[in-house]
Amino acid sequence: MNYPSKNHYTNIANIYDNLWSYSPEYIKFTTQKIIEHLHLISTDTLVDIGCGTGIYSKEILKHIQLQQPIICVDPSAEMLEKIPANSRLNPIKMDGVRFSQKLGFYDKIFLKEAIHYIEEKFLLFQNLWQRLIPGGIFLLLLLPPIIEYPLFAKALELYEKKQPHYQELIDLLQKVGFAVDSDIIEYPLEFPKSQYFAMVENRYMFFLSEFNDTELAAGLKEMEEKYQDKSVLKFSDHMVFIAATKPE
Ligand SMILES: C[S@@+](CC[C@H](N)C(=O)[O-])C[C@H]1O[C@@H](n2cnc3c(N)ncnc32)[C@H](O)[C@@H]1O
Repeated sequence: MNYPSKNHYTNIANIYDNLWSYSPEYIKFTTQKIIEHLHLISTDTLVDIGCGTGIYSKEILKHIQLQQPIICVDPSAEMLEKIPANSRLNPIKMDGVRFSQKLGFYDKIFLKEAIHYIEEKFLLFQNLWQRLIPGGIFLLLLLPPIIEYPLFAKALELYEKKQPHYQELIDLLQKVGFAVDSDIIEYPLEFPKSQYFAMVENRYMFFLSEFNDTELAAGLKEMEEKYQDKSVLKFSDHMVFIAATKPE
């Protein structure tokens, strides 16, 4: 397993939601897309693998009254602790592959921005096939192989080295037998420069935790020089949605 470097989520759990709270609209927009791509209905049993602090599961419940609690799986106790204790979210501290091996049947499963941590991707997809009912949907969300974020050059290079290519994942899912549809959804983002720099300083994306303090400071200096005449940073976020349906 390719576990997050040096307790990344232990360090970041306390600020994770704040890093994203800049844009409740972004969370709402993405959640609505998740609901659409999953064809979610109130009787569905739903699993959120790599749920983190449950940002998206919590938002799903604002839009749809599911009859069963959402099963929220994550190996990080610190991230799971941020999920409010209530009967509508059921947190399970477990690695995603291990969870996928446990007996159980679900209508819908999603995994957002966590697939880069899982080495045994084919095994995971085979197991998820077993966990889904016929007609069930597994939705995989990840960033594309290249991102246009205003980061320093070494950060972008490292990202490109680490991020799995969505086409390879589509191929694996098809090999398992899923019928696969994919879509790339764009969302324009805009931050005051100081806010974005603070997010980078807080290593808001997983691969930033691989830079030590000196390297990160050098990266921030490079960004400062590059964007010296800007007070606001505008760029687009692209999210790849891969919907894998188990045929009836
Ligand atoms: C970038 S966060 C995404 C959290 C959430 N899905 C979201 O979009 O806000 C990645 C999450 O994957 C979890 N993770 C790391 N390794 C994992 C594994 N092997 N199986 C399942 N989740 C894992 C981390 O603990 C972290 O909470």
